[in-house]
Amino acid sequence: MKTIPCKCFAPASVANVAVGYDVLGFAIEELGDEVILNDATKKGLEITLIRNNKAKLSKNIKENVAGFAAWRVMQHLGIEDLPVKMEINKRMPVGTGLGSSASSAAAGAFAMNAFLDFPCDKMTILRCATEAEQIADGAWHADNVAPSLFGGFVLIRDNPSLDVVGLPCIPGLRAVVVYPHIKILTKDSRDILSENVPLKSHIKQSGNLAAFVAAMYKSDLGLLERSLEDVVIEPQRAKLIPDFYSIKDLALENGALGFSISGAGPSMFALCANSVIADNIADAVQKFFDDKKRPVTIYNSAINLEGAKRY
Ligand code: HSE
Repeated sequence: MKTIPCKCFAPASVANVAVGYDVLGFAIEELGDEVILNDATKKGLEITLIRNNKAKLSKNIKENVAGFAAWRVMQHLGIEDLPVKMEINKRMPVGTGLGSSASSAAAGAFAMNAFLDFPCDKMTILRCATEAEQIADGAWHADNVAPSLFGGFVLIRDNPSLDVVGLPCIPGLRAVVVYPHIKILTKDSRDILSENVPLKSHIKQSGNLAAFVAAMYKSDLGLLERSLEDVVIEPQRAKLIPDFYSIKDLALENGALGFSISGAGPSMFALCANSVIADNIADAVQKFFDDKKRPVTIYNSAINLEGAKRY
């Protein structure tokens, strides 16, 4: 039975996870976006309100990722004229490297499916949300959208066909996410990457990605720690983030299993074996920024295992 309004949430996410550029991501707690759908009288989907719209996101459904994702679900079902109104609560900053647009896209597609009483399967919703997210950075990759929708760690075996697989998560694992208040455009962060990967780096990175997956299945923290090393993307992007290597050293000294750039940056993340280590890293990084009198927001988060949900 349809209950309205239909209020849904999709979490923020960390893409790449050091060893899986464009093919690996995980969802985090607390941050994310909310979409609320309700019956309307005017034909079609309309965005009536965007709360906390600091980034001045468009209310045009063809330009707004949440709107487009929801509209794609309607189009897929041949019901574009159904009168529906959408409100969006932006509950996270834009341009952080934490998958803000993916979270909106996942929330939009998931909410429309929930509003209609779940006529579409998960893969259709993933496709609609990934198409929508493409509006934001022009590239087709599901390493933010898939974890936002499904929760946990998700591996994208193949982006074009959206062949995705959810991975188990080692119990107790936490992420410390460090958002320095600087701006890096995803497009710029992608444009600086070399088209070529040296064979030696490819060998190292494939070994690390495979070992990462094995570590999750075996609940092997030692193997996870050894595998969290990005020899391809991080060396090219680190220069965009002031003091990246000092912050990384600090996190590793304080017990992080690994530390790297979250998505296209500027946020960074540490994966930690438990909450005591996560707290120590969060305190040390906060002090580092305080000493430099530079602003930072630190999220000390469990891995979100639930993904998009209806309240
Ligand atoms: N995998 C993407 C990147 C995530 O690193 O550019 C950000 O959209």
